[in-house]
Amino acid sequence: MNLEEQYKIIEFADFGDERGNLVVIEGDGMDIPFDIKRVFYIYGSDSEVVRGSHANRETEFLLVNVSGTSKVRLADGSKEIIVELNKPRMGLYISSMVWKDMYDFSKDSVLLVLASRHYDANEYIRDFDEYLSEIQKGKK
Ligand code: TYD
Repeated sequence: MNLEEQYKIIEFADFGDERGNLVVIEGDGMDIPFDIKRVFYIYGSDSEVVRGSHANRETEFLLVNVSGTSKVRLADGSKEIIVELNKPRMGLYISSMVWKDMYDFSKDSVLLVLASRHYDANEYIRDFDEYLSEIQKGKK
């Protein structure tokens, strides 16, 4: 599968009014393709830090910078795509088996992550060569 088919930028509805903004993300195919099983958020990272550097065999993710900005580098061994997350209404959907790095965090960055599965360290691939050999096997 092409890397282009393994991610999607989604703009969420904003029910903002004079009281402020309210952004809703519903799972189960409504706003994002999966049922949300886990939520985590990353803050206090800076412009020097690189996080992620892994692929997940099973889990799909949705990333939103609810505050500040960061960049995400997606790779599949033959292509690389960089997405800047810079709006609280902007979500980046990432399917399973995509290599990802998160970096260039602004000081005020709060990166919210919604996941389709509970945490399981065994479904993480943290070695790029192993990742490449698993996708090669998958193509055969
Ligand atoms: P890590 O995968 O290194 O974070 P990132 O993807 O941002 O680079 O996770 C850091 C630590 O947190 C690691 O010890 C595993 C733990 N962790 C959980 O226990 N549950 C989770 O859902 C996540 C994402 C991480």
